[in-house]
This record gives sequence, structure tokens and C-alpha cells, in this order.
Amino acid sequence: MGFVDDELSKMKDVIANLESRVKRLEGRQSGAVTPEEIRMILIGPPGAGKGTQAPKIKERFSCCHLATGDMLRNQVAKKTPLGREAKKIMDAGGLVRDDIMIGMIKEELNSNKECQGGFILDGFPRTVPQAEGLDEMLASRNQKLQHAVELQIDDSLLVARITGRLVHPASGRSYHSTFNPPKEYMKDDITGEPLIQRSDDNAEALKKRLGTYHAQTAPVVDYYRKTGIWHGVDASQEPGQVWKNVLSILEGKERSHGSTILSRITGKN
Ligand code: AP5
Repeated sequence: MGFVDDELSKMKDVIANLESRVKRLEGRQSGAVTPEEIRMILIGPPGAGKGTQAPKIKERFSCCHLATGDMLRNQVAKKTPLGREAKKIMDAGGLVRDDIMIGMIKEELNSNKECQGGFILDGFPRTVPQAEGLDEMLASRNQKLQHAVELQIDDSLLVARITGRLVHPASGRSYHSTFNPPKEYMKDDITGEPLIQRSDDNAEALKKRLGTYHAQTAPVVDYYRKTGIWHGVDASQEPGQVWKNVLSILEGKERSHGSTILSRITGKN
């Protein structure tokens, strides 16, 4: 993609995000029927692109982004008893106990104000008991999950993605040394703070994480396939194309014929 195409695509994205947010806020302000809040999960193996796509969804739909891996790493950084225990499990490529993970998500959905606009769960549910726990949690709120989006990619493509990933710990922003390099070497584009490599982002731990994914999380995909809310996306494509495909799933039932920001400015529909 050339520079002009690239810039044009970014600007169109910014305008579309603004339109979506204005529509939602106007709806809330007037008490009129607003597009339904979004309630969705992103499933996929390590490196599939969950953490790359989720912030874009959050931006578009003004909802919360709950990434259980980030929540656990936060506990590790604070050196809490849970963090100490979780670090051993994460570095070994295993899974933290279901009841702990379900409790974490419940707490966030109840207390995080951003979740009033809906939620994207990234890295949860990772087991069938977690999926059942989520269903129970939502049923008690008279809600249902709307979308289970699976980012599908062959294991062989994930080694390069994981071993080249660079992370800004405070924000969770992620880069890639080759596929998505920061503007300045090893520095976060927004804050200029140093980037790090995750302690579980090495070829050996990845092998174990992939084993755990296929044994314990693949059944979660089957769980949602049966419900009719599952959609698969080819996650081996470049990030912009993955985003377009995800968006077309999420906006499928939400396209509106109302005026757009551009049409309001130009007076043309
Ligand atoms: P978590 O943090 O959730 O890790 P993960 O599932 O292994 O996923 P990743 O964060 O590694 O990958 P991603 O899909 O977000 O990829 P990203 O977008 O960054 O969990 C860590 C650990 O915590 C688990 O192993 C477990 O121990 C524990 N845990 C967490 N949740 C739990 C739960 N519910 N129950 C029990 N235990 C739990 O992309 C990767 C790289 O590729 C980046 O560098 C990115 O720039 C690049 N990239 C992304 N998309 C593309 C593309 N389309 N083309 C080229 N490069 C791309």
C-alpha cells in the first residue's frame, strides 16, 4: 500500500470511529434507542492478534477491553501473592485457575465504568468452565454474548510474531520488531518510555502455550460454534485486512442509514 492509500485509510478509520461514537453519545443523551452495546470475545492462539485488534474495537465501539493476560501481568508487576503464583504458571505456558479468572472478569464487569458501553474479552474464556461461568454471569444480568470471533492462524506463523513482539508495559501497546516497529528503536510511540519483551515470549514457552491452547481453548471454539454467534477470521492477513474483516462481522447488523459526519459537513448524503 502506498503512502497516500495508507494515510487515506487511516483518516477514513478516524472519521468512522468518530461517527460511531457521536451516534452512541447522541443516543444516550436523547434517551432514544441506541445501537445495542457490544458484548464480544476474541479467541485465538498466542500471537494471533487479539491484543492488536481489541484496542481498535474499543475505540470504535466505546466499550471496555478486558485482557486477562494484562490483568495477570499487572498482578505480577505489583508482586501480589496472585502475581507471584501466576508468573510461574504463565512462564510455564499453563493456565491460572478458572475460579480466579472468572472472579476477575466478574469484578471488572461490575465495577469498571467503561464496561457500561459493553465489553471485549481478550484471552477469556480460555476453558469450557470459564465459558460456562461467563454465560452464568451474563444471564444474571439479563444479557447475552453477541459475538465470538476466532482469529484463525497456523501455528507455524506464530513463532516469528511472538519472538519479535515488543510491549509497552504501562499501556499494553504492542509492536513488532519487523511487522510493526516503533518509530524510535525500543521506545513507545506515545510516551517515549522503554519497550520490553514478555518473559513468556520465547520459542520454548510458546510451544507449551500452543499445546495448552489446542488442548484447553480449542474446545471453547466448539462451545461457541454451537451457539450461532461464532465467526472465524483469517488472522494470517496483514493487520488492516484483519481489522476490516472483524469490523464487517461486528457491524453486520448495525449499519445505519442516518447522516454521517462527512455528510453533515458537506451537506451531501
Ligand atoms: P495472554 O496475555 O492472553 O497471551 P496469549 O493468549 O498467549 O496471547 P498473546 O498476548 O501472546 O497474543 P495476541 O493474540 O494478543 O497477539 P498480539 O496482538 O500481541 O496470556 C498470557 C498468559 O496468562 C497465558 O499463557 C496464561 O498463563 C495466563 N492467562 C491469561 N488469561 C487466562 C485465562 N482466561 N485463564 C487462565 N490463564 C490465563 O500480536 C503478537 C505480535 O504479532 C505483535 O508483535 C503484533 O505486532 C504482531 N501482529 C499482530 N497481528 C499481526 C498481523 N496480522 N500480521 C503480522 N504481525 C501481526
